[in-house]
Amino acid sequence: MMNTLVLKKEEFLFLKDFIYQHIGISLSEQKIYLVQGRLNKRLKELRLDSFKEYCDLLRNDVAQKELSYLSTFISTNVTSFFREGSQWKFLEENLAKITHSKNKKLRIWSAASSTGEEPYSIIMFLYEHLNDVLHWDIKLLATDISTKVLKQAKEGKYKSKAYSQLEARYRAKYFTKVQHSEDEYTIKEMIKKDIVFRIFNLVTGNYKIFAKKKFDIIFCRNVMIYFDKATQSELVKNFYDLLEPGGYLFIGSSEALTDLRKGFKLVSPSIYQKV
Ligand SMILES: C[S@@+](CC[C@H](N)C(=O)[O-])C[C@H]1O[C@@H](n2cnc3c(N)ncnc32)[C@H](O)[C@@H]1O
Repeated sequence: MMNTLVLKKEEFLFLKDFIYQHIGISLSEQKIYLVQGRLNKRLKELRLDSFKEYCDLLRNDVAQKELSYLSTFISTNVTSFFREGSQWKFLEENLAKITHSKNKKLRIWSAASSTGEEPYSIIMFLYEHLNDVLHWDIKLLATDISTKVLKQAKEGKYKSKAYSQLEARYRAKYFTKVQHSEDEYTIKEMIKKDIVFRIFNLVTGNYKIFAKKKFDIIFCRNVMIYFDKATQSELVKNFYDLLEPGGYLFIGSSEALTDLRKGFKLVSPSIYQKV
């Protein structure tokens, strides 16, 4: 058994500050043992002998490669197909209203897409519910801070645990069984082709890269909960600017815009519309 490397208080304070500045996650001082526990695995992967070496590596991580790994150890990537059931119900009931003036063009952003279940659910949903879907120009941008989850998302390969909650008709229509594998399925190209996966840090990212791009719907679910009020506020301002007038912002059911929702109206639990 390998020894646990000990995270000293000053190293924790450096990491806490680094994580806040670069990922947006604000950790309380009680989280020292959680950080020590989660990062021990990473230090072993890197064959480092101390947290001091890891802090130095981060200080010199100009290309921010380690940042992407750090995020996967610090935040959770938990996700699932058709998560937040009531939001899909809302979409089903309001899809005609949302899309009627769109001229057969839809632009959607899944802003913390994790391993891909969220963006793939969106496109599968549209295939099931949008009239004449094959004649629509649909583009979905799926971003995340972590290259590890984005790699999995792009591959679109899922084991039984992930697809077990999917209605059987979705599995039958939109997935292909992986050859020589008992329980792995890959998402079909017809769904993949509408999605572009990119790395993007919601906290430090340059929103100017979107230039004049506007979205009809932004999904930013179950990530804001880790950010403090100031970071959330900045993020919501950016989403507001990037949404078309009348566009929708979907957040997680345990998140709320409360006092941050200037310019948005609540249309259903955790769903806001730009006014
Ligand atoms: C719990 S998952 C949510 C996935 C999906 N949106 C859902 O609701 O099922 C949170 C995701 O946010 C990503 N994340 C954390 N901090 C981020 C940041 N600063 N910028 C972009 N993505 C971030 C994580 O890598 C993780 O994949």
